Amino acid sequence: MATRSLQDKVALVIGASSGMGRATSLALANEGAKVVCCDLRAEANPRGYEADIEKTTSQLIVERGGESIFEQVDISNTSQLEVAFGRAISKFGRLDILVNTSGYWAPFEEFVDETDEVWAKMVGVHTIGSSKAMRLAIRQFLKQEVDPKWGSRGRIVSISSAAACTALPKEVAYSATKASVNHMTRTAAMDHAKDWININCIAPGVVATGMARGNIEDEAILRQMKRSFPWPRLGTVDDITAAVLFFCLPPSSWITGQVLSVDGGMALGIPSE
Ligand SMILES: NC(=O)c1ccc[n+]([C@@H]2O[C@H](COP(=O)([O-])OP(=O)(O)OC[C@H]3O[C@@H](n4cnc5c(N)ncnc54)[C@H](O)[C@@H]3O)[C@@H](O)[C@H]2O)c1
Repeated sequence: MATRSLQDKVALVIGASSGMGRATSLALANEGAKVVCCDLRAEANPRGYEADIEKTTSQLIVERGGESIFEQVDISNTSQLEVAFGRAISKFGRLDILVNTSGYWAPFEEFVDETDEVWAKMVGVHTIGSSKAMRLAIRQFLKQEVDPKWGSRGRIVSISSAAACTALPKEVAYSATKASVNHMTRTAAMDHAKDWININCIAPGVVATGMARGNIEDEAILRQMKRSFPWPRLGTVDDITAAVLFFCLPPSSWITGQVLSVDGGMALGIPSE
């Protein structure tokens, strides 16, 4: 069998149990990476669209011949993150890739009515959690050598949102904290390019996952969401996974600090009918 592109690499995926994180974990494992699946719980979001929803992501990877462990983590809890990174590195001896897909979304509400609790949660998950996970990954990457065939010392890919690029109504806390992930991507990439560490981000549009199911099943919201982007269909986890994988594979080694919209054109502006 030919050597796979990420053979012997170790990836840590946060939000790995469902949706984009699950599909990404499976794709990284398919390229040969050992995957540390981190999430609030091992079980997939029961509202998800996965055909094999009764199986955990780690279970699927192992069944398909890969290597994987699960670590229970709330990304907003910095001590839990430290423990999970520590366990991952002691199990597999290194870390090469961090993909953070975890996210928290609260039902649409006007800015004036958003609560301090919602803001604290959004900042905890998106801003503090992403920052801590990225710094833990970078500290480990810096202990390792550059892999000349891969072109990097380590890769980080975060998931923000189209809402972080375009002003959408009634999601200020979500949009603003997701925007912090976009700018963390650009500024951290500036600091660590010299270290051969690639830091990129994907800003998805509406993607059919458990998180979005409530909106997709609400006809009025779905109609409004479909009007917000010109492409004739919703996104799938495969659309996002293809982009995440690109940012982890050798051909993208000279790309850093980018926020890539994968959104059916949502960030372009206001479509006609
Ligand atoms: N689905 C969409 O339409 C859409 C659009 C734009 C951006 N996003 C973003 O995409 C990312 C992936 O979401 P998804 O649509 O795949 O949803 P999902 O519900 O299918 O998966 C999200 C996963 O993250 C985990 N998670 C949530 N909070 C966590 C925490 N505090 N610590 C650790 N894990 C946590 C959940 O348990 C779940 O397994 C999120 O960051 C979301 O904000 C989603």
